[in-house]
Amino acid sequence: MMSGNEPAVYRQPEPGLVGSAHPTIDLRMPPAKHLVIVGATGAVGQEFCNVLRQRRFPVASLRLFASQRSAGRTVAGVNAPAVVEVLTPKSFAGSDLALFSAGAAVSREFAPLAVRAGAVVIDNSSAFRMDPEVPLVVPEVNPQVVGQHRGIIANPNCSAIIMVVVLWPLQRLSPIQRVVVSTYQAASGAGARALAELEAQTRAVLAGASPQPVVFPVPCAFNVFSHNSVVGPDGYNGEETKMIAETRKIFGEESLRIAPTCMRVPVMRAHTEALSIEFADSVSVDAARAALAAAPGVRVVDDPARNHFPTPLEATGGDDVLVGRIRRDPSIPDDRGLQLICAGDQLRKGAALNAVQIAELLQPGV
Ligand SMILES: NC(=O)c1ccc[n+]([C@@H]2O[C@H](COP(=O)([O-])OP(=O)(O)OC[C@H]3O[C@@H](n4cnc5c(N)ncnc54)[C@H](OP(=O)(O)O)[C@@H]3O)[C@@H](O)[C@H]2O)c1
Repeated sequence: MMSGNEPAVYRQPEPGLVGSAHPTIDLRMPPAKHLVIVGATGAVGQEFCNVLRQRRFPVASLRLFASQRSAGRTVAGVNAPAVVEVLTPKSFAGSDLALFSAGAAVSREFAPLAVRAGAVVIDNSSAFRMDPEVPLVVPEVNPQVVGQHRGIIANPNCSAIIMVVVLWPLQRLSPIQRVVVSTYQAASGAGARALAELEAQTRAVLAGASPQPVVFPVPCAFNVFSHNSVVGPDGYNGEETKMIAETRKIFGEESLRIAPTCMRVPVMRAHTEALSIEFADSVSVDAARAALAAAPGVRVVDDPARNHFPTPLEATGGDDVLVGRIRRDPSIPDDRGLQLICAGDQLRKGAALNAVQIAELLQPGV
């Protein structure tokens, strides 16, 4: 099904829509793509369409796929509403780019079929992230590995992306030795149903009811709780384990020490993180602020006099990771420690935007 998309002409993104003071990456555009979106009805799938439209990504044709549950539904496409089809092994015929966001099981089954049909897959799930043959890419950090792909490119975990965009410019000031990170993660990080649960629960509680949680294991409205991923034998949950392993892979630093604690908070959208960073050498607050201010994909929001620092509300809908509260860590000697907080829209930079930026890096023949 063709969706009536625009012809294969690349124009600059609409001013004000990308939301960054700096170009996030070199905007070399690939030729128009015959594009497939798998998981198009989901929280990330719908954001794919928004980001592709806002960045004027050249689309020659578009097909949207989900499960039987959503077949026949009309949803916002890239440039026009489009009808959702059921995903089948034949869905990729004629496509050359497939954006996946339907969970790891769907990616494991269907991504190899998409590659066999001739498409490059950019996968938002965890299915292939730690596969040594699959590049795990954050364009502001390691764009050079995109060209190593053999058909599948992995988009990292949302909390990891938000953290590494901030850590990378600091790593260039002095090698990072250890990071202690606590996350305050939005409900929509668990998908569209989780977002709906937070909204419905909030209304119900305010109306005097005690609604039973369905998506999350505990009530999410007016609550804070440990991340809802499976806790392993080492006591770390899946989200924490991903933050450690994926950051090491993206940085190419197998021994980087990271101690995460991942939490859910009753926020609709955008994750916040508090970081304590230990460097090999002393790093001043001023040097860190200057490096972050110059970094692509980062916006410094750091005004102690007005108590104005990053919040998930301010990060929502934007492309930049906001960073602030940049201060010395007095518990680390020799001025080798800094503390800061950051907030980023995990549906955009943590998922859809990062994937589209990867697609923009793809050149003919890559
Ligand atoms: N949410 C985030 O912030 C975020 C960030 C980074 C990465 N991710 C990853 O992105 C993926 C999607 O997350 P999400 O938050 O968008 O989830 P979601 O809102 O629950 O959406 C899931 C999508 O997958 C589709 N789907 C489910 N089972 C399917 C099947 N058997 N065949 C075809 N389509 C199927 C759903 O279609 P129906 O409408 O038919 O159910 C829906 O379109 C996950 O792997 C997640 O880990 C999410």
